[in-house]
Amino acid sequence: MAEIRVAVIGVGNVGATFVQGVDYYSSGKSTVGLWHQKVAGLKPANVKIVAAFDIDPAKVGRNLSEVASEITRKNEIKRSKVDISSGILSDNTDKTDKPATISASEFAKELRKSGAQVALNLISSGMDKTSLEYAKAALAARVAFVNATPAKIASNPAVARKFAQNKLVLAGDDLLSQFGGTAFHKGMIDFMVERGVHVKKSYQLDVGGSAETKNTMDERIRMMKRSMKTGSIGMEAPYKFESVAGTTEYTDFLGDSRNSYYWMSSEGFLGSNIVMDLTLRTSDGANAGNVLLDVVRATGKARGGKAAEVISAYGFKSPPKRYKIREAYSNFIEMFA
Ligand SMILES: NC(=O)c1ccc[n+]([C@@H]2O[C@H](COP(=O)([O-])OP(=O)(O)OC[C@H]3O[C@@H](n4cnc5c(N)ncnc54)[C@H](O)[C@@H]3O)[C@@H](O)[C@H]2O)c1
Repeated sequence: MAEIRVAVIGVGNVGATFVQGVDYYSSGKSTVGLWHQKVAGLKPANVKIVAAFDIDPAKVGRNLSEVASEITRKNEIKRSKVDISSGILSDNTDKTDKPATISASEFAKELRKSGAQVALNLISSGMDKTSLEYAKAALAARVAFVNATPAKIASNPAVARKFAQNKLVLAGDDLLSQFGGTAFHKGMIDFMVERGVHVKKSYQLDVGGSAETKNTMDERIRMMKRSMKTGSIGMEAPYKFESVAGTTEYTDFLGDSRNSYYWMSSEGFLGSNIVMDLTLRTSDGANAGNVLLDVVRATGKARGGKAAEVISAYGFKSPPKRYKIREAYSNFIEMFA
């Protein structure tokens, strides 16, 4: 049976929801909420998680599904054959006490031994050196790499060239959630432009309660993410308009949910005002799950070249080559669905 073997790097909110999603949709209990049943001819049941890595000593050495159940608070996740191994750490961090680490070459050896075809990088944002080390180690192990973090990996031309030379897909950077703040914002701008409305100003303020949102409160990370989100939104109109999009606040009691507040001001026929003011409430983990499930199936099947560009534009906010949201979607569907 065709299968795609995946290594999960970083078992946090998104990693745990991905594990839960693979288990749930593989069981065949339901397809409700699943975006694409088949991608590259593969169903969710064809995705096998064969390895997992983290540096949190409270997670390392424990069974993957046990940790994922704890994070998602869903006890029905089927017991995995995988225990979480130690990961690489090349950045300074005060977020993890006594991190459990291994060297990049040990990681590459373990990755190769696991038989993984795709390494899925889901570590905390702000760890740019570590993400680059993971990508290089995956390359050494001849494993395709998906970078969901905002670190510039797929958009690093030297790294991308090496993956392409080895006929391996390198996809990224910074996951574009299925129906999250940025995707929805892009969709609204696209719709206004299509309906002949002139977009003048637009903002999106995100408030969330996840560990990653807390992490984003670091000014350097916040500004980096703000620039990626704003850049991704700006390209939906064929002209420049004023826009701001970013995470504004961390509120612990929101947990995995995120509130995105939008305000858009546009001009219609004879200069008439069109103003939109709305709130979107979503769940971060679930919002990442569908896109990742699609991306790993496509990445596992493809062999570099144009496919890396198509996958990156479909699933990420800062791909090496940007397309408008609809074009990125139709290119992906044409190639993989
Ligand atoms: N919808 C979304 O949630 C979304 C959207 C876009 C991008 N992302 C990106 O996905 C990534 C994961 O988000 P999350 O909410 O799961 O974060 P999280 O903080 O819940 O989980 C991160 C996990 O990575 C682990 N980790 C940290 N450093 C590591 C290392 N060096 N090696 C291995 N593991 C390490 C942490 O211990 C933790 O378990 C982030 O970079 C985030 O920016 C998420």
